[in-house]
Amino acid sequence: MSTPSFITSPEYAADGPAVYFRRDFPVAVGLVRATLKITSLGIVVPRLNGSRVGDEVLAPGWTSYKNRLHVSEYDVTDLVIEGENALGAVVGEGWAVGPLTWELTRGNYADRPALWAELTLHYPDRVEIIGTDDAFQVGEGAVRANGIYRGEDYDARLEQAGWDRAGFDASGWTKATGFDWDLSVLELDAAPPVRRIQELRPVEITTSPSGATIVDFGQVLSGWVRFTVDGPAGTTITLRHAELLTPEGELERETLRQADATDRYTLRGAGEETWEPEFTFHGFRYAQIDGWPGELDPASVTAIVVHTDMVRTGWFETSDPLVSKLHENTVWAMRGNFVSVPTDCPQRDERLGWTGDLNAFAPTANYLYDTRGLLQSWLKDLAAEQQASGTVPWVVPDVLPTASSPTAVWSDVAVSLPWELYQEHADLDILRASYASMTAFTRQVEGLLDARGLWSEGFQFGDWLDPDAPANNPAGGKTDRHLVASAYLCKTTREMAKTSELLGHTDDAAHFAELHERVLAAFRREFVTESGRVVNESATAYALTIMFEILDEDQKQKAGQRLAEIVEAAGYTISTGFAGTPLVSDALSSTGHLEKAYKLLLEKHCPSFLYPVTMGATTIWERWDSVLPDGSLNSTGMTSLNHYALGAVASWLHRVVGGLSKLEPGWKKILIAPQPGGSLTFARTAHQTPLGLADVDWRVTDGEVLLEVTVPEGATATVKLPLHPADATEEVAAGTHSWRYPAPAGYGREAIFTMDTPVKEISSNPDVWAAVVEVFKRYFPGVPIDAAGAHLAAMPLSAVAERMPGVAGADLARDLETAISPREVSHV
Ligand code: BGC
Repeated sequence: MSTPSFITSPEYAADGPAVYFRRDFPVAVGLVRATLKITSLGIVVPRLNGSRVGDEVLAPGWTSYKNRLHVSEYDVTDLVIEGENALGAVVGEGWAVGPLTWELTRGNYADRPALWAELTLHYPDRVEIIGTDDAFQVGEGAVRANGIYRGEDYDARLEQAGWDRAGFDASGWTKATGFDWDLSVLELDAAPPVRRIQELRPVEITTSPSGATIVDFGQVLSGWVRFTVDGPAGTTITLRHAELLTPEGELERETLRQADATDRYTLRGAGEETWEPEFTFHGFRYAQIDGWPGELDPASVTAIVVHTDMVRTGWFETSDPLVSKLHENTVWAMRGNFVSVPTDCPQRDERLGWTGDLNAFAPTANYLYDTRGLLQSWLKDLAAEQQASGTVPWVVPDVLPTASSPTAVWSDVAVSLPWELYQEHADLDILRASYASMTAFTRQVEGLLDARGLWSEGFQFGDWLDPDAPANNPAGGKTDRHLVASAYLCKTTREMAKTSELLGHTDDAAHFAELHERVLAAFRREFVTESGRVVNESATAYALTIMFEILDEDQKQKAGQRLAEIVEAAGYTISTGFAGTPLVSDALSSTGHLEKAYKLLLEKHCPSFLYPVTMGATTIWERWDSVLPDGSLNSTGMTSLNHYALGAVASWLHRVVGGLSKLEPGWKKILIAPQPGGSLTFARTAHQTPLGLADVDWRVTDGEVLLEVTVPEGATATVKLPLHPADATEEVAAGTHSWRYPAPAGYGREAIFTMDTPVKEISSNPDVWAAVVEVFKRYFPGVPIDAAGAHLAAMPLSAVAERMPGVAGADLARDLETAISPREVSHV
């Protein structure tokens, strides 16, 4: 019996073959149970008597390894036999050893893969432990090279038959050596495992103009390709991955930056061979397959969707298929990025736990999935690394080449995330567990405030990726980055004060409440006029001041008005970045500008919420214009096609369009208040709350509003009846309730355009635009009609008619009015 320690290979070549570990062990008569605990620095695939153990992939996942290292535990009773057995493991480079970040820094945690395992054999009268020690041997096998960014090279001819079975001749193998690692950081179930969640069949296989075979899986995802092949030994199949095709139809690999994302498989050549990589993952939709022997049969390839195994808890759909698709894309962006760590993107040379991205997205994430296991694990890492460095790192786990500094939106997640999780689960332990981290961050920023009480110095990401920021400076948007910082600090200090109060830390509560008042007063003095204008007039500046309760009621109305004007002046295209986008729709709808919020939602011109959907997007992009209208990639280098941050708008869809939100932490009191608008005639949203399923379904049909809601046991709901003639509100208990009443005249018809609507806006609705073009053609035969044409685009429709003198003008106006008149919409 031995106490396990980490072991490794005495010789390891960086970027070389994966390390294979093995040992034989005897099992005596009478075994009751066998359990295996296993982890590694690197990615581990455990094997026992020729079988793979368990269904966790990419184990042990990525945590702040120096502080916490996840240990998987499996019941392996059924895999062991009386007599000789063999325990094996293949360990690849993973996050611990291989290159990370755009600097491709190797060895962030260890210079070589290392293994730790403890196999416990339970007998009626004793327990025996087989632990990793120098009784293990190390060798090589078919995995020739592997890495998170680079992909995997597998030469099936080099598989050592029977290496993971008893009696294998390991005479060519060497003795494992010890690897120094603090065993106190090992944690059973430190984080929920990553698993293979879904398989997607190809939707199309095409031959590109250059002659390459490209498989389209129809969905941008995280995972890999699995295939079955039959061909001659030594044939190498190469799979290159990409999220997009160029307009010419070749792989567009620019979004990967330096990630090679290429798998290679060399055939053994003895009949059918099925393979998938185990030491990498790719963010992709397309795979170019080179070297396939013979014709590629679509049935031979599937995409394996891989992410942290979480329970789905949130759903949304609506009558406008583009909006439903926007929501679906948000779900996929979350799935693509909750791969062990909540990351910015899954495809390029980053895939890092960027704090700001999660700050923007957390409310949406917590609605869509049960994130508690993963995010609480991540918060433990955040706290541990914050303690070590004194600062919340910009990415968690921190592997950045430069030191982080306290930064609004990004570092704020130390407070906002525990607060959001508490709102969802109403469990004070969530706040307790993070309290030291929350207060340390808040006090650190307090120490950085200037004499006025503003956060006015130091680096800030600001309203990151404001579409109007210069291409080479994504932090240089329209909104003063220190305004963004102080506005977010108003929110952070409020949440901090409430947390202290909830946990009974009365001195802290008083201190942080006072700090909050100080920051709030300083912000108002510096940035807000008495009437409610915000000096830095941008959609983001207004959205933050409205949503962070910085303004009094009168000022809020004025600010809402200005925000509506700014949003309209931008033609309802997006003019906000990471800081403002999650809030702008709420800021409009909560200040009486619901219709403008809908116009913002339904706009399709670039860049807008729906523009990517019209371009065939299947996920949320890093920028709304990551792909340009001609199908080419935006050349700024920040153009991931799988970034959840801006998908934060889905939270507004859930709460305002769907109409489901919580009035109290843990959903004990629910607000059901759908706010129909735009051309929507139906929406449904549901959330698996900690108390059970809450469901809201509204539809406008045949001149009636139908509302059906389900309130879970243990909850009550305030129901504000949508489009109700008397604006009625009702209080209801758990159960299913429904209402039916007349809809306002005209609602449910697609009557969103008037003669004052700019031509460009009308052209975004294909049916209405077709009718308008008909009229134009009648009056201006032979004149080409192009809504994008600069002078016509900005003109209201009435101005076009006014250009025709006399009766013709009046006739034209009448016909145009008919063309844009409301039409019945058949949905549901
Ligand atoms: C990431 C972002 C992140 C940002 C901050 C980017 O490279 O992809 O989402 O928040 O850097 O600098």
